[in-house]
Amino acid sequence: RFLKWTWRAMYLSAIGGTIYVGYGIYQGRTPNQQFDPDPSKKTLVVLGTGWGSVSLLKKLDTENYNVIVVSPRNYFLFTPLLPSCTTGTIEHRSIMEPIRSFLRHKKAAVKYYEAECTKIDYEKKMIYINDESEIKGSTSATEVPFDMLVVGVGAENATFGIPGVREHGCFLKEVPDAQRIRKRIMDCVETATFKDQSPEEVKRLLHMVVVGGGPTGVEFAGELQDFFENDLRKWIPEISKNFHVTLVEALPNVLPMFSKNLIEYTEQTFKEETIDIRTKTMVKRVEETYIEAEYTDASGKKVLEKIPYGLLVWATGNALKPVVKDLMSQIPAQKDSRRGLAVNEYLVVKGTENIWAVGDCAIANYAPTAQVAAQEGAFLARLFNQMAKTNEIETELAELSNVQEKASSKPVRDEAFGKIKDLQKRLRRVKNIGPFEYSHQGSLAYIGSEKAVADISWLTGNLATGGQLTYFFWRSAYLSMCFSTRNRILVIMDWAKTQVFGRDVSRE
Ligand code: FAD
Ligand code: NAI
Repeated sequence: RFLKWTWRAMYLSAIGGTIYVGYGIYQGRTPNQQFDPDPSKKTLVVLGTGWGSVSLLKKLDTENYNVIVVSPRNYFLFTPLLPSCTTGTIEHRSIMEPIRSFLRHKKAAVKYYEAECTKIDYEKKMIYINDESEIKGSTSATEVPFDMLVVGVGAENATFGIPGVREHGCFLKEVPDAQRIRKRIMDCVETATFKDQSPEEVKRLLHMVVVGGGPTGVEFAGELQDFFENDLRKWIPEISKNFHVTLVEALPNVLPMFSKNLIEYTEQTFKEETIDIRTKTMVKRVEETYIEAEYTDASGKKVLEKIPYGLLVWATGNALKPVVKDLMSQIPAQKDSRRGLAVNEYLVVKGTENIWAVGDCAIANYAPTAQVAAQEGAFLARLFNQMAKTNEIETELAELSNVQEKASSKPVRDEAFGKIKDLQKRLRRVKNIGPFEYSHQGSLAYIGSEKAVADISWLTGNLATGGQLTYFFWRSAYLSMCFSTRNRILVIMDWAKTQVFGRDVSRE
């Protein structure tokens, strides 16, 4: 009897799941009729199509504003799975969601300009935009006025002015970065197997150096080692002896934001995977074929060491974008802020009334993560929806007060009075939106060989766990967080493809 009920439950969940997925696909492909944007409404300009801005746009009632989105990237990128694209575990298009199809599903149409905002003029309430794409029309630079502005432009890769990083290193922030890394890995491998290559050169070409032991560096190093163990070693056995991954970190340990036992677990796992971790080692200079790194030897003396590399991936965190730096220089209240736009508890850029900032470009005392950016964006959407409702109620109240004043008969005055009371109550409720509060759900990172680490907020405490079970949790958590049903299906298909056929070792 138990078995019968279990089968029934499984059967029903399979049907339910199919209907859910089917509906997701149908909805994704069939947008409804949209209202045109109303130019008489306030112009809300949103910069960027990343975690912060898209989360805002997802929840924003666009019919309340004249919404304009400006970003050089016409898609949203699910960054947590980007390290998997560097080795082909996942194809990059599986984690991209076109901004056009997303915006087409909003109730009122939203204008989108594929452009980079080069300057924000706070006084003039104007942004200046440039079409940076390869194909240019008769206009490629123009300006857009705004009543309200949300800055969600993210951050740049930090190099700390270390010479040679931009020329010789690969970053890992955007899709072209992942594509470049994937190509370079294979280029190094093929060049290393070129006829008559000297043994030192083979060693250098097959030395993959990752600088920065934050989650980006750790996840990439894990993915790269997987690629070698599961695929490269099989198809190109002659590289087996020399292929080597080294992670260089200036601090005494990797993943500083994780619990101590997870740091130890990660370092131990890397040791087993034969990834070299060089902690307390600071890279000072980058040349085409080697890096210069400083470490302190056993006697306490500082030593400068040359480390040859074939591929160098630079993942040392975030720096300010020029457009953000420029905006900060226009606002006296921002003069002491160094790492980004200082915002108040409602995410208003300090020193302004009509500019908000979300995500990596804003400094609100939280780590620059997707989780924070998404929550900030969702908060702003709620705030803007409430602001629009407030305006609507206030206009209605003004009209009713007029009616009440001018009414000659008592019943009409009483009716208006009753409505005013109700509206005032609603207004108090609507206006009562608290400040932004971040709710930390936990941190997750993939560390290679089908293992992950997780620091999860659990009831009142914290659960720190690592291993293969955590890896399945990591997979299901990121799958559920993917932007759309389409993304979810594509990622599952990529994982299955990798499992069945292995990763593709073609160079392009
Ligand atoms: P972004 O998502 O970077 O978006 C910025 C947007 O602004 C982009 O659309 C860009 O094109 C646009 N833009 C840039 N310049 C301009 C301009 N001048 N004018 C107009 N638009 C502009 N966080 C987690 O919480 N969990 C993870 O697992 C995780 N994994 C990560 C893995 C990698 C490889 C990386 C690089 C980051 C990861 N992060 C993760 C961090 C997370 O991606 C960032 O914190 C998050 O993307 C920040 O969101 P954002 O909206 O501020 O910026
Ligand atoms: P990070 O700022 O977290 O780490 C960079 C590391 O590089 C630091 O540990 C720093 O000590 C080291 N470093 C800096 N200069 C160096 C040098 N010259 N030589 C050697 N080491 C040097 O940067 P990361 O990993 O790029 O992450 C950026 C943000 O994105 C973080 O907030 C992170 O939490 C988030 N993120 C989260 C992920 C996750 O939750 N799984 C994955 C990737 C990023």
